[in-house]
Amino acid sequence: MQLALSTWQEVETYLEHSTGIVIPIGSTEQHGPNGLIGTDTICPTKIAAGMADIENIMIAPAISYGMSQHHMAFPGTVTLKPSTLIRVVCDVVTSLHQHGFTRFYFLNGHGGNIAPVTSAFSEIYAGLNTAETNPPRCRLANWWRDHSIAALAAELYGDAEGYHATVSEVALSYYTHPEAVKQVTMTPAVAPTGEIYDASHFRHSFPDGRIGSNPALASIEDGERFYQLAVNSLLEDYKQFLTVK
Ligand code: NI
Repeated sequence: MQLALSTWQEVETYLEHSTGIVIPIGSTEQHGPNGLIGTDTICPTKIAAGMADIENIMIAPAISYGMSQHHMAFPGTVTLKPSTLIRVVCDVVTSLHQHGFTRFYFLNGHGGNIAPVTSAFSEIYAGLNTAETNPPRCRLANWWRDHSIAALAAELYGDAEGYHATVSEVALSYYTHPEAVKQVTMTPAVAPTGEIYDASHFRHSFPDGRIGSNPALASIEDGERFYQLAVNSLLEDYKQFLTVK
């Protein structure tokens, strides 16, 4: 069930049987020579839609901009400051909580969002009135860190999975958007690794935008495998989250 495609009456009816909602969150940032700028939003949005195909789960519109300051030396990247993203997450949760939602499952596609989003959760909890009878509970689920996903990526690609513009995320984005597949020769085949600081340092250290990966290995077929695994595993995680008191 997509929030954006529902009426307010349908939301009211949904809330009679569930107060849970899945909120995909990603980024708009460079993903190397063959990765799509929208990769980090495309992946969790696709997984969330798959979860809603199996169970009657409300899916919020994706938060498509994330904290991507370190990618700003590459054209097309848009970043929210950490403080801005914290405010966005707080306001989304506060709005939905006002209508009766209490379980907020952020399905994340971007590592740079982890610190601001978990900080936002602390802001939300810190601001709670102790008399609140149905307080919000928030979980951040990073799809690529799911044990089944990490295991398949290691099996298929070994170290060439990498850390940014990874093979698994490019594969899942290609499965979702086969019309956008790019054929690019990577030089070197596997990108360098190292620490991340600011945007100009990032571009100097990782000139084509990849970190440690060889996303030329990405295929639509592998993307479908990641998709199926992620839907099943994250659906179980979401259902467990709904039982949290
Ligand atoms: Ni990514």
